[in-house]
Amino acid sequence: MGEMEDLSVVECARCPDLAECRSRIVNGVGPADADLLFVGEGPGANEDDQGEPFVGRSGTVLDDALRTAGLARADVRITNCVRCRPPENRDPRAAELANCREYLDREIDAVDPTVIVTLGKVPSEHLLERDVGVTGEAGDTFDTEIAGETRTVMVSVHPAATLYDRSQEATFEGTIQRAADLTGAGGQSTLGSF
Ligand code: URA
Repeated sequence: MGEMEDLSVVECARCPDLAECRSRIVNGVGPADADLLFVGEGPGANEDDQGEPFVGRSGTVLDDALRTAGLARADVRITNCVRCRPPENRDPRAAELANCREYLDREIDAVDPTVIVTLGKVPSEHLLERDVGVTGEAGDTFDTEIAGETRTVMVSVHPAATLYDRSQEATFEGTIQRAADLTGAGGQSTLGSF
């Protein structure tokens, strides 16, 4: 089995409610040695349908910000805290986050990214294990122990936030640019500070 397959969960019934409702398990995508790892909350309807994280409107926002920072989607790895769509798009429950944590930790350990960007409140609080104000802390980095190592986590607003609050666009793009700069990937910032 190749390294990519090792990071994919093929069958899981740890969360009976999610296993019953999902169309499929949505695993992470992108290079298994990516410098940048994006972690979202969990699959929505589009992701559940297509089997790939961030393929709906949020995905378009993410792809656009990556392009602005001189990166392509194929350059980065993208995954979620939970791999099965919570019904009605509710937040994943604490038990569901805990059940899926082993898969996320395994992925983080294998990819060993330079920076982990947490997209929104749920993944930020899950990985930093504290309350996070994502708008105020967007673009800030924190060293925290994950999967047995000290890792750099950069907080971000969720890309969907830019769809209902245009003022979050600059915050989101600035965060992605800052993450690209930290990895030495992508182009020079043209965005200035935010
Ligand atoms: N929102 C998320 O948090 N994850 C996805 O995969 C899509 C939308």
